[in-house]
Amino acid sequence: MSENQRDGKKNDDLEAFRESPDGQYLTSNQGLRINHTDDSLKAGERGPTLLEDFHFREKIMHFDHERIPERVVHARGAAAHGVFHLYEPLTDLTKAGFLNDPSRETPVFVRFSTVVGSRGSADTARDVRGFATKFYTEEGIFDLVGNNIPIFFIQDAIKFPDLVHALKPEQHNEIPQAATAHNTAWDFFSLLPESTAMVMWIMSDRAIPRSFRMMEGFGIHTFRLVNAEGKSRFVKFHWKPLLGAHSLLWDEAQELAGRNADWHRSDLWQAIESGAYPEWEFGIQVLEEGQEFDFAFDLLDPTKLWPEELIPVRRIGKMTLNRNPDNYFAETEQVAFHPGHLVSGIDFSNDPLLQGRLFSYLDTQLTRLGGPNFAEIPINRPIAPVHNNQRDGLHRTTINTGTAPYSPNSLSGGCPMLAPENAGGFVTYPEHVEGPKTRARSESFKDYFSQATLFWKSLSPIEQEHLIAATHFELGKVTALQVRERMVEMFSYVDPELASRVAAGIGVQVPSGTPQPGVQPPSGKKTVEKSPALSLENQPSDSIATRRVAVLAAPGVDAGQVSAVKNGLTAKGAVVEVIGQRLGTIQTNNGQELEVDHSGLTVSSVMYDAVFVPDTGSADERASDGSVLQFVAQAYKHGKTIAAAGTGVALLRVAGIPGIPAPGSDGHIMDDAGVITTDGRSDMKTLVDKLTAGIAQHRHWNRNVMLVPGGVVLPVG
Ligand code: HEM
Repeated sequence: MSENQRDGKKNDDLEAFRESPDGQYLTSNQGLRINHTDDSLKAGERGPTLLEDFHFREKIMHFDHERIPERVVHARGAAAHGVFHLYEPLTDLTKAGFLNDPSRETPVFVRFSTVVGSRGSADTARDVRGFATKFYTEEGIFDLVGNNIPIFFIQDAIKFPDLVHALKPEQHNEIPQAATAHNTAWDFFSLLPESTAMVMWIMSDRAIPRSFRMMEGFGIHTFRLVNAEGKSRFVKFHWKPLLGAHSLLWDEAQELAGRNADWHRSDLWQAIESGAYPEWEFGIQVLEEGQEFDFAFDLLDPTKLWPEELIPVRRIGKMTLNRNPDNYFAETEQVAFHPGHLVSGIDFSNDPLLQGRLFSYLDTQLTRLGGPNFAEIPINRPIAPVHNNQRDGLHRTTINTGTAPYSPNSLSGGCPMLAPENAGGFVTYPEHVEGPKTRARSESFKDYFSQATLFWKSLSPIEQEHLIAATHFELGKVTALQVRERMVEMFSYVDPELASRVAAGIGVQVPSGTPQPGVQPPSGKKTVEKSPALSLENQPSDSIATRRVAVLAAPGVDAGQVSAVKNGLTAKGAVVEVIGQRLGTIQTNNGQELEVDHSGLTVSSVMYDAVFVPDTGSADERASDGSVLQFVAQAYKHGKTIAAAGTGVALLRVAGIPGIPAPGSDGHIMDDAGVITTDGRSDMKTLVDKLTAGIAQHRHWNRNVMLVPGGVVLPVG
């Protein structure tokens, strides 16, 4: 890691807490140097251990207490440090300092997570991804605790324990881990119509991202921006990945869970270590207070998104993640996010889900982090100074001086003083509220299906196909017939075709008669029938930066082809790795030794975005290697770009890839739906260009393929 990523105010703050053993003696916690740590102190070589052994007792005591409770949700996660830069002052919208001054660099710490799985579960589970950002602003911490899906399952936080109990492994046997494909999850969904839109999202490809770096992020709730004049507007926050949002296929996700359960966290780690820093633009959708009732959805309903086509996302700044944590536990595990960590210039709306979250996070962290002083943990400390009258408690580290820890006081000169608004003192937006106490749900929240329909209609045919396949997988694991039936009924309110396609795969009938979808959205209000922004197929596809390309090499491999592809793609930011039968080197056609990055045993095509099969001259040991054949066949069925030259083309045929055009004998390069072939004498630059264009496209759906339930794509015939 370059040293210049170790700067900035938060880094300076953390520096005071870092420990390095380099060149140091082993000591006890009391600083005593230790000269033997491999044997306990015993009465005789074969005798009992003595109670006197203070070193043994200290070492074991600490070890015995290394674990803390995992997060009740979002237990599995990975995080990184970075910076946020604003593009232009937003003083007209907000008085938040970090959104006013483009010359500022605001340190951030971002934790990505899955929701349902335990801390050791696989990264690629079908699930919502948490996207929590801690902005260490000069005026205090602002946490944007969001997800990679713009809406949520429930409208009121009081349903959160019910939701999570239904989603988590079942209580009698703790099965299944990190999965919603079980009875209780779908029992709950099928009884809770407000969850249907979110269910559509988690059945879509959004729930199996290709990488944390290729996910959008959403603050979900409607918040407020408040400017220095006290004017408030409604706002939704967005993160837009510069690499675009892309997904795995379910077949890949499942295989990755076994082959590399750390897929997402290692992808993030390696990208940052290699200097390919992940970047997102920060976006806002803003509405005037007077527009609150202009839309066909209630702005306070967290199961609704604001279509970007109606309310455009303005990109206001950029976040770059540029440093991996030094210590997973100290930083990633102990970080405490909370939607209630606000700065002046940002405020809440009355979204009942947000309001409930404002209680939950501090409350849970009290148990998870073992007492009320977790704000003092280095990763949680603001870079703004902290002065208040909170005292004592478990693990207190601040040494508060002075004599009067109360307010008002005269003995400490009234300090710490209250800050007037013009000195940054937080003043709650004085929204006028009044009403009878009630446990009712607003009628305007009761249109449960129109945005589920919007999402369905906005997906491309292939995305719809994946969504159906996902429901067949998930509901296929639901043994309770009445749950499957109720769910199909719920889908029938979204779209009749959706319902019948789901029903066809899970042994139930679509209910007859006209569906009764409940409350309709109000007429005459602004809405859209389709939102192209919701389809992953409309994401940027102009870059191959950080895409992973496998070169399947064998003895006699054409060194010129390998270096042309390696150099050409690496220059465009891709990661090119040579895969051989075993580690070590391979002799090339010109007698050089080619370094093998991975043996075929340790990788699989699901870990790559594309594959190149170079020429190996006459004898090709790859043609009889089942793992190589499986590699290319799988890359084909997953719609990935495949390039082959010379004997490599013959290998594709042995692997069963259908319809490969014969490479022109004149060195012509053929490109059929991302299968790029040449006789090996062609201009390699053109091959690299075609590979680049193919990889940037992410997948090739126009192949001679058929889809089968589970999201697997198989060659026809
Ligand atoms: C829009 C809806 C929600 C979003 C986007 C969301 C997002 C998140 C994220 C990203 C985390 C992980 C934070 C981290 O990385 O440490 C998290 C944790 C958590 N969430 Fe939520 N959540 C939502 C709703 C709720 C609700 C309604 C509740 C409770 C009423 C809740 C309770 C919790 C709790 C208890 C944790 C664990 C916090 C910790 O142990 O530090 N969440 N949530």
